[in-house]
Amino acid sequence: MRGRWSATRGIPRAMAKPAAKSHETMLEIPADRLPRHVGVIMDGNGRWANERGMVRTVGHSEGANAVRDVVRAGRSAGLEALTLFAFSSQNWDRPPQEVFHLMELLRRYLIEERAEILDNGIRLVTVGDTDRLPLIVRAPLQELMEVSAKNEGMILCLALSYGGRETIARAVQELCRDAVAGRIDPEKVDVSLVESYLPSSKCLPALDLLIRTSGERRVSNFFLWEVAYAELYFTETMWPEFGKEDLMKALRDYASRERRFGLTGRPPSDSGPVDSSVPSTSPKNSAVEAACSVQAVPSQGSEG
Ligand code: FPP
Repeated sequence: MRGRWSATRGIPRAMAKPAAKSHETMLEIPADRLPRHVGVIMDGNGRWANERGMVRTVGHSEGANAVRDVVRAGRSAGLEALTLFAFSSQNWDRPPQEVFHLMELLRRYLIEERAEILDNGIRLVTVGDTDRLPLIVRAPLQELMEVSAKNEGMILCLALSYGGRETIARAVQELCRDAVAGRIDPEKVDVSLVESYLPSSKCLPALDLLIRTSGERRVSNFFLWEVAYAELYFTETMWPEFGKEDLMKALRDYASRERRFGLTGRPPSDSGPVDSSVPSTSPKNSAVEAACSVQAVPSQGSEG
């Protein structure tokens, strides 16, 4: 399994090796405060166009231009991975001409950006049910994934025909098959085993930051498992207008946050005052035991 904290991918990343440095972000954001993996829900193309008296597809075309800018900005910022939610499992039910337009934009993006992706050492990967994509997209997608597979720069992940619930359901199906075939012991199923069945765990670091544009504050079936400890960033900016400066603003906001992963934010040894009236059988666990058995404070939830 890959990743600096690949066993559970839920341990403070600020304590891990810093992400790749870049001149640009070095100026403003310390490398160890930079997210390794940013996911983006690119929302607002349709509204952006309608507000300007244009058809929705014009918004998607402008959105594709924003994709070019943001990929470039993400790379120069030193991100290790950038995932763009480009087409959801549910988007297939949009009007056929809109679906066709989006497929055409994807095809064009893959062809026109091929040289830049390769020249910049970007590795292209996907999550989602890409078998459903038309051949006009699948062919250039497959080719670019293959030729960029050994690149070691930023990972660009396109979420295509992707749904978080659908992905989890497929992972559970595969896990059940392995259990029935005796390849795994049901008693050994835990968080890291389930996670290992998710495609994101095979090609991406843990998600650190999720950005959604257009003022909506929803996750909309994107990276449902992966979002567990991600920081969320919402902006009113419509996707076609989102650019390098907006990304930098989100990265600065992320850098200013304290991530606790369900812990206290204090070093593990700093467990606060211990009730000295509690007999200590194990020095290591005495504070935990005191908290659990003596104080008997009703649970206030597990806010992380
Ligand atoms: C959501 O906006 C956006 C999409 C469903 C498609 C995103 C696609 C692109 C940005 C362009 C193609 C992608 C690549 C990678 C080249 P919406 O249409 O739902 O906006 P609305 O909420 O205003 O209707």
